[in-house]
Amino acid sequence: MILVGDDPGSAIYVRNKKKATVECGMKSFGYELPADVPEAELLGLIDALNADPNVHGILCQLPLPKHLDEFKVTCRIDPAKDVDGLHPMNVGLLSMGREGPVSCTPAGVMVMLHRAGIEVAGKECVVIGRSNIVGKPVAQLLLKENGTVTVCHSRTKDLKAVVRRADVVVVAIGRAKMVTGDWIKPGAVVVDVGINRNAEGKVVGDVDFDSVAEVAGAVTPVPNGVGPMTIAMLLRNTLDAFKRAEKARAAAR
Ligand code: GUN
Repeated sequence: MILVGDDPGSAIYVRNKKKATVECGMKSFGYELPADVPEAELLGLIDALNADPNVHGILCQLPLPKHLDEFKVTCRIDPAKDVDGLHPMNVGLLSMGREGPVSCTPAGVMVMLHRAGIEVAGKECVVIGRSNIVGKPVAQLLLKENGTVTVCHSRTKDLKAVVRRADVVVVAIGRAKMVTGDWIKPGAVVVDVGINRNAEGKVVGDVDFDSVAEVAGAVTPVPNGVGPMTIAMLLRNTLDAFKRAEKARAAAR
C-alpha cells in the first residue's frame, strides 16, 4: 500500500485497509512517501513491487499530489497486481465484459445488490457521477448484468426527472445530501456512494437518507453502507490476484 503526502482522509482510508488486510491473514507492506516525492522515485518503488514475488497486490491511494501524473502511476502497476482495477488493461477487460480485477467500490455495490436479492436485468439503472473510479465502472457492471443504464453528470439536463425514472439509483457525485426523497420513484433501490463531511464534521452521504427512506424500497446508509464493501472487495481482489499468480506459477513449472 502506497500513500503519498499527508491528506488526512487518505491516511484514514489506508489505515483501515491495512487493518483489514492483516485481520484476514494477509501481509501488508506500507510505503509512506512525502508529498514532494519525485515521480521517478514513486515509479521506481512500483517497479520494485511489480518485481517482488512476495507481493500480489499493489495499491497507490488516490488522489496524488498535483505534480504526480495519476494516469502514468496507474499504468505503471503490473495489471496482474492491480487490486484497484484502475489499470487501463483491467478497465478495458471490464468494458468488454471479461474477468479481471474491478474497482473496489463498484464491485462492492454489486455484491450488496446481489446479497439483497436485487436483480438489475431489464431495470432502469441511473448512475449519478462519471468518475473512472466509481461512476463509469459501476455503469459497466450494471450493463453486464443487463440493466438499462443511464450515466448522469454535472451537465445532465433535468437530473431530477432522469433519476425519477430509475428502478436502481447509484449516487457518486460527492455533494452532501443532494438527492432527496422527491427525486426517487416509489420503491426504487438507492445506493449511496458519497462520503462528505458536513459543517459539524460528521460524515454524510450524497443522499438525504431520511427523506429517501420514506419512498425508496431500499437505501444504503452512510457511514457503514458501501464503505466497508470497498475494503472487502480490495481483499477479494488481492486473494484473486494471489490465486491467479499461483496458478501461473504452477503452470510454468
Ligand atoms: N481513493 C478513493 N478511493 C480509492 C480507491 O478505491 N483506491 C485508491 N487507490 N484510491 C482511492
